[in-house]
Amino acid sequence: MIDGHTKLVGLIGWPVEHSLSPVMHNAAFDALGLNWRYVPLPVRPGQVEVAVRGLAALGFRGANVTVPHKQAIMPALNSIEVNARELGAVNTLVIGQRTDRAPVIMGCNTDDQGFIGALRQGRFEPEDGGQAVVVGAGGAARAVVYGLLWAGIGGVVVLNRTLQRAQALVADLGRQPRHAARLRALALAEEVLLELARAADLLVNATSVGMWPHVAGSLWPAGVPIPSSLTVCDLVYNPLETRLLQQAHRSGAPTIDGLGMLVCQGALAFDLWANQDLDVSQVAAWMREACARVVRR
Ligand code: ATR
Repeated sequence: MIDGHTKLVGLIGWPVEHSLSPVMHNAAFDALGLNWRYVPLPVRPGQVEVAVRGLAALGFRGANVTVPHKQAIMPALNSIEVNARELGAVNTLVIGQRTDRAPVIMGCNTDDQGFIGALRQGRFEPEDGGQAVVVGAGGAARAVVYGLLWAGIGGVVVLNRTLQRAQALVADLGRQPRHAARLRALALAEEVLLELARAADLLVNATSVGMWPHVAGSLWPAGVPIPSSLTVCDLVYNPLETRLLQQAHRSGAPTIDGLGMLVCQGALAFDLWANQDLDVSQVAAWMREACARVVRR
């Protein structure tokens, strides 16, 4: 029930209609009996600074931030956590509401740790120094590569259709010499992917290939088995079992689907807001259950 004590959080994006975040966060609030609600907040490009001031003035406790505002929102914030600054994107706001002074608006990013949480739940240990191939060089790929580097992965090759974007990612995230030494950028090509996959431990699809309605799409060529020692992780969750994950299943390779990162980053954001010494993996489990009821198989 919404009453005079209800605390509000929401999702800033454009568009936001198809997001699963309201479903999963409200399910977790319900499971914990918290008088909080999570609402969609459609914000047009160019309006994000005004929206953030409005949210703070309206007493919101925080928000998630999605496409296309993850970078544009940064100048509107009072402070930005180190990982969000280094990654160059904010996906969560925490708004400190104070009765005597103006609210403090902090920018955070839970995507990198959310990805690592999903890997661990899928029984892949990134700190073991293995080799990863990440396909894609957008915002999602940045969080994935950043998370892997900090977790202790041995090496990451970033493959992208547009080579310059992969090179820019590697230049940005490789500012620290110990990270640069473990990073490489290459243009995406089938033979390069097949060659790298033979020696890799983890393959991540951080592109939109395979996403509804183009469900027949896959990075991996048809009819070629995937090495069974390769863990295959797809960030696409619509559908839940992408063509790439079907190919991995058929080859006996372990898989991690896109709901893993979605719910782990969500549970970490939830924890930042609710601040109640929560069992984050239990929150993620409630969120996954709620999402699984509404996503395409
Ligand atoms: P996000 O923030 O979700 O990562 P994005 O910044 O739009 O989204 O990035 C989408 C990624 O998917 C990019 O790496 C893009 O490649 P380009 O940089 O070459 O555009 C990749 N991508 C999209 N469609 C693709 C396709 N058909 N084949 C290969 N890569 C594709």
